[in-house]
Amino acid sequence: AAIEKGGYDHFMLKEIFEQPTTIYDCLRGRLDAAAGTITMAGVQQYAEQIINANRIVIIACGTSWHAGLVAEYIIEELCRINVEVEYASEFRYRNPVINKGDVIIAISQSGETADTLVAIESAKEKGAIILGVVNVVGSSIARASHAGAYTHAGPEIGVASTKAFTAQLTVLMMIALKVGYMKGSISNDRYRQLLNELDAVPEKAAWVLNHHEHIKSIAEKYKDARDFLYLGRGYNFAIALEGALKLKEISYIHAEGYPAAEMKHGPIALVDENLPVVFVATKDIYHEKVVSNMQEIKARKGKLLAVITEGDETSKAICDDVMIVPEADEVIAPLINVIPLQLLSYYIGVAKGCNVDMPRNLAKSVTVE
Ligand code: G6P
Repeated sequence: AAIEKGGYDHFMLKEIFEQPTTIYDCLRGRLDAAAGTITMAGVQQYAEQIINANRIVIIACGTSWHAGLVAEYIIEELCRINVEVEYASEFRYRNPVINKGDVIIAISQSGETADTLVAIESAKEKGAIILGVVNVVGSSIARASHAGAYTHAGPEIGVASTKAFTAQLTVLMMIALKVGYMKGSISNDRYRQLLNELDAVPEKAAWVLNHHEHIKSIAEKYKDARDFLYLGRGYNFAIALEGALKLKEISYIHAEGYPAAEMKHGPIALVDENLPVVFVATKDIYHEKVVSNMQEIKARKGKLLAVITEGDETSKAICDDVMIVPEADEVIAPLINVIPLQLLSYYIGVAKGCNVDMPRNLAKSVTVE
C-alpha cells in the first residue's frame, strides 16, 4: 500500500498532488491552444443537437453535482443555452418534464452511481440525448450514454473526490468552449484567450500545491472549530459548496456552503468569534461584492479566511488567514480555487486523526438508489 501511495501518507493527498498531471492528461490530445482547436469526438457527433438544444440538464450526485453547478454558470455564459442542474435522485422520482431534443449531461466519477444511472435511462426513453462525463472507462453510465467524454483522471481511491472533480471541470469547460465557439456565442478572441487560460491550469495548480505547508499551518490553527461556513459567488459559489462538503466528509466538522450574499438570510446568525468563514474571493466581476460580504463577517467578529488572487493586498489585509492562488480568468478560476480547499480539508482531517481515505459511513460509489 505504501508503494501504491507513491510516498504520500494517504491516497487523498497523492490524488490532490496528481492534479497538475491529471488536468494535463485531460487536456492532452483535445486542447490545442496554438491551433485554437478543441477535439472531442463525442461532442462533435452531437454538435447540431447541442447547439440547438432548448436546454441542457445536468444530472449528478455529490461532488460531481458541484462540477455540474460550476458548468451551469459557464455554459450559460459561453453558450447562451439554458442549463439546469439536478440531483439525480430528485430528478428521477419527480416525473420530470423532458422534451425530445433536450440534452442531458450525466457527470459521474465511478460511472456506477445508481441514481444517476436510472435517471439517464428514463430520460433516454423520453427522447433526450445523453452525454456522459465519466472517469471510469466502460462503466455503466458511460455505456448508457449516447456519447461523452472521459475525464482520464486515472483510478481515484480516496473516497472524497479530488482529482476526478478537477478533471470533470476541465472536460466541462472544454465542452462549453467548443459549443460556444461552434454556436458563435463567444468571440474568436475570447475563445482563444480561454484556450490559453485552460492550457495554463496545470502549471497554476502546481504553484498552489507548492504552497501546501502554509495551508497546513492554517489547518492546525482552525482544526478545533465546531462549524465552518464557506461562501462564494458566481463561478465560485459551487466551489464554496465543494469546500464545505470536503471538510464534512474528511474531518466530520459541520460545514455549510452558501452563496455569499444569501448568508444574510440565515447563516449570518451563526457568526461569532468561534466561527471560521472561508471565502472564495478571487478577482472576478463579483469581487467588490464579495469583499463587502467579508467585511460583514469581520464586523461580527467571525474568523475570516479566504482564497484570494496573488497580489490582492486589500483582501489580504482584512483576512485573518489567506490561501493565495495565481491570477486566472474568472471562467477558469474555479478549477484552481478548489485545490487549496481540498488541502485545507485534508490537513484538518489528518490533524484530527480521521481516516481521510475512508471516512466513516461513506462509500466511494453509491450503487443503491
Ligand atoms: C459518493 C462519493 C462522492 C461522489 C458521489 C458521486 O458519495 O463518496 O465522492 O462525489 O458518490 O459519485 P460519482 O461516482 O457518480 O461521481
